[in-house]
Amino acid sequence: MEGKDNFLSHIMVQLTEDYFTEIRVSPQSYTRLTMERWNGRIALVTGASVGIGAAICRALVQHGMVVVGCARNLDKIKAIAEEDAVKASPGRLVAIKCDVTQESEILSMFDQIRRTFGRLDICVNNAGLSHDAPLLTGNTEDWRNMLDVNVMALCICTQEAVKLMREIGIKDGQIIHISSIGGHRQSALGMPGLHFYSGTKFMVRALTEGLRRELKTLNSHIRIASLSPGMVETEFFGRYLKNDPTRNAADVFKSMKALEAKDIADSVLYILKTPPHVEVHDIILRPYDQAM
Ligand SMILES: NC(=O)c1ccc[n+]([C@@H]2O[C@H](COP(=O)([O-])OP(=O)(O)OC[C@H]3O[C@@H](n4cnc5c(N)ncnc54)[C@H](OP(=O)(O)O)[C@@H]3O)[C@@H](O)[C@H]2O)c1
Repeated sequence: MEGKDNFLSHIMVQLTEDYFTEIRVSPQSYTRLTMERWNGRIALVTGASVGIGAAICRALVQHGMVVVGCARNLDKIKAIAEEDAVKASPGRLVAIKCDVTQESEILSMFDQIRRTFGRLDICVNNAGLSHDAPLLTGNTEDWRNMLDVNVMALCICTQEAVKLMREIGIKDGQIIHISSIGGHRQSALGMPGLHFYSGTKFMVRALTEGLRRELKTLNSHIRIASLSPGMVETEFFGRYLKNDPTRNAADVFKSMKALEAKDIADSVLYILKTPPHVEVHDIILRPYDQAM
C-alpha cells in the first residue's frame, strides 16, 4: 500500500449535498500519463477525411506527431491540414489518397511512408462504414465492401505497419482498431441494416485478441488496443441512410446526445499515454443516454 505521505494532494470532492469523497493524487499520476515519447514520431490514421479519423489526426498533431492521414477524399484531409489550429500545432498532417478496398493502394501508401519517413510508430485503423444492408434483403456487394473496409483493410494495414515497425526495431509501437459497441452486441437501434456491419466489428474484436497473441509470441512490445464507441455524431449515419428518403441522420441524433468525435480522439490519447507495461485492450464508450 502506498503511504499517505506519498500523495501530492488530497482533494475532497462533494458528490451530493451530504456525501464527500476523497481523491488522492500521487506524483506518479501527474507523470505517468504523458504523450511526451510520441513527440516527432509518425502515425498513420485511415479514414482521416471526416469524423472520428479527422478528430484523431487533429489530436495527434496537437501533441507533436507527424500524422499521415489517408482516405479517398484527399481534399478534405488537405483542408484539415490547413486549419489554423492544426497549422499552429507542433506536429503536422500529411494527406495521402488511398481507397483501402484496393490492396495495391494500401501497399503503395506504405511504400510512400517507408520512403518518406523511414518508420511508422502508430497505426490507427479507423476507416469503416455500414451500408443499410440487412441479412435477409441486403445486397452482397454492400456486404463485401464492408468486409473489405472494416476487416480486410484493417488486417492489411496492421500487417504492413507491424512489418515496418519491426524492420527498424521500434519497441513501443501501437496499433489501434476503431471497432464499435456493435462488436460486443448486435445493434439495438432498430436498424436491421446494421446487422452485417456488427458482424464485421465482432470480427475486429476477435482479430484484436488474435493479434495480441501473435505479437506476444514475438515479444515485440508492440501493443494492440481496440476502441468500441456507441453512437458518435459523424457522417456515419448520413452515409448509412444515403438511399433512404424516409429517414435522415439528424433524426437519429435527435434521440440522444451522441458522443462527439473528439471524445474518441481523447480515448486514443489515453491509450497512447499509458506506460509501456500497460496494454489497454478494449475501451467501450457509450453516450450516457444510450440504453443498450
Ligand atoms: N459514428 C458512429 O456512431 C460510430 C460508432 C462506432 C464505431 N464507429 C466506427 O468509427 C470509424 C470511423 O467512422 P466515423 O463515425 O468517423 O464515420 P464517417 O464520418 O463516415 O467517416 C468514415 C471515414 O472512413 C473513410 N472511408 C470509408 N470508406 C473508405 C475507403 N474505401 N477507403 C478509404 N477510406 C474510407 C471515409 O473517407 P472517404 O469517404 O474520404 O474515403 C471517412 O474518412 C469506423 O470504423 C466506424 O465503424 C462509428
